[in-house]
Amino acid sequence: MITLGLNAVFHDSAACLVRDGEVIAAAEEERFTRIKHGKRPLPFTTWELPFHAVDYCLATAGIELADVDQVAYSYDPRLLLEEQFDKEKIALPLQPSAYPAKALWTSPWEPLQLAYIMNAERQLLDGAPHHIRKRFLSAKERKHWQWHYVEHHLAHEASAFLAAPFGESAVMTLDGRGELATTTYGRFDGRAFERLGEVRMPHSLGLLYEQVTDYLGFLHSSDEYKVMALASYGSPEYAGVFREMISIKDDGTYEIADPKLAERFGPARQRGAELTKKHFDIARSLQLVLEESAVSLSTILKEKTRSKNLCMAGGVALNCVMNAKIRDAGLFDNVWVQPAAGDAGTALGAALWSDWQARGLRAWSMDHAYLGPAYGDEEIKSFLDRGKVKYRKMHDIPRETAEVLERDRIVGWFQGRMEFGPRALGARSILASPLSAGMQQRLNDIKDREDFRPVAPVVMEEHAAEWFTGARTSPFMLFVYDVAPDKAERIPAVRHVDGTARIQTVNRNQNALYYDLLRAFRDRTGVPVLVNTSFNTRSEPVVCTPRDAVECFWTSPIDALAIGSFLLEK
Ligand SMILES: [Fe+2]
Repeated sequence: MITLGLNAVFHDSAACLVRDGEVIAAAEEERFTRIKHGKRPLPFTTWELPFHAVDYCLATAGIELADVDQVAYSYDPRLLLEEQFDKEKIALPLQPSAYPAKALWTSPWEPLQLAYIMNAERQLLDGAPHHIRKRFLSAKERKHWQWHYVEHHLAHEASAFLAAPFGESAVMTLDGRGELATTTYGRFDGRAFERLGEVRMPHSLGLLYEQVTDYLGFLHSSDEYKVMALASYGSPEYAGVFREMISIKDDGTYEIADPKLAERFGPARQRGAELTKKHFDIARSLQLVLEESAVSLSTILKEKTRSKNLCMAGGVALNCVMNAKIRDAGLFDNVWVQPAAGDAGTALGAALWSDWQARGLRAWSMDHAYLGPAYGDEEIKSFLDRGKVKYRKMHDIPRETAEVLERDRIVGWFQGRMEFGPRALGARSILASPLSAGMQQRLNDIKDREDFRPVAPVVMEEHAAEWFTGARTSPFMLFVYDVAPDKAERIPAVRHVDGTARIQTVNRNQNALYYDLLRAFRDRTGVPVLVNTSFNTRSEPVVCTPRDAVECFWTSPIDALAIGSFLLEK
């Protein structure tokens, strides 16, 4: 049973291929097209399917599109058609924006978007770009698949509870919006999943965070993590304002009043304008109230489910400071967040859900996120040779790279299968020594990022608790921990202004080469920690191919590149 999952409606378009319950491949379209997030979340872009990511998934499985048994699309247009539109026909004026929308929060272009979604199957058969059509062509004659529209939040939920290492769990999703839902609660008992409640538009913690992101002069649906970083520099002066906006009821539903940000706080910050105390304070206040709200919702879900385990997805679940507050509330023994928690992960969730529905069995859990393309030494070497690039062959990749890192050189690390999800986890990473305080600034310079952005550590799993207070396994960089007080001076580069660090733990089963590199660095310095940040520069997607890596290396001040067995140094 081969199931192809697709996310295409909003942004972070992605594809995932599941064979008999096992995830064979998953990747975001942005990595292939080099357009950040794949596309903007606009009605006009909904027709664009993640063709390159699909082609990669098919190639990895050694199949053609015609061989797919199920296609699972992570949005169910019928939910909107039933409530808001005629089921057979959608009237689409030639100039939709000349007509009022049905509600303030809907777009007059929604009929156009729905038409695209209804035609996604035809687009999959006909729309593949010319240069990658080979694996798509035979589907026109031979397709036998069942097409499933999977509700957007069900896809988020399934991406969590079917991927998590739990036999049973409470499930919470928080994101901007799906068809109508914005927040959901559920329980998975090992045999069945039950939706226990949901919050619908226009009430959305995710959209509130997006609106503030926009107000603070950043790109909404993209730069929310910058607001989270800003928050650590502010004080919660305006927490009362945000608390007043949000009213949470006993059943877990909530309402959010129109934030009217410009009315409350004055004119919005323009992109690139100076950041003032007020901006930091607004970010801090929003972040604090988000954390309080998420803990309240988790408490209600705990009461409803009595489960020991919580798993989460949805774009808001990428907020690692919020996740840490839920963890520290002690409601659940285990809190697990699926690493592609944003919309890309709905491709994974839709595929896992449809596979599980068809076969009734689970066969996989997500121990790591290395589900993307890999490139062998032969391929890398022939690319380097063709470009007359100077390199040397390493005979012991971890040891020789650790030696470069110890010299305080910043290293592009391109090894093995690319990560699925927004975090670089040691396959497409920029790595550096954490020992000097200036490293954060150097990395932000290299990546052309804002000064307030922190960089994060990766640590050998067995040493995590020595270096970060109370740290447990955290393979996906989705939780912050405090840097242990007696270690803070040793690793100043990774300590954020509030004393925390967003850690990744790694063990040898997850990624042997990466683990061995940390061990080699520990053997040389006594510190089992490195700085890990994504291998890209500002506004660029993370590198995918050797070409992307070499181009990024030569167009930025990165000092060295460890790509497969080859080392390039400037
Ligand atoms: Fe979503």
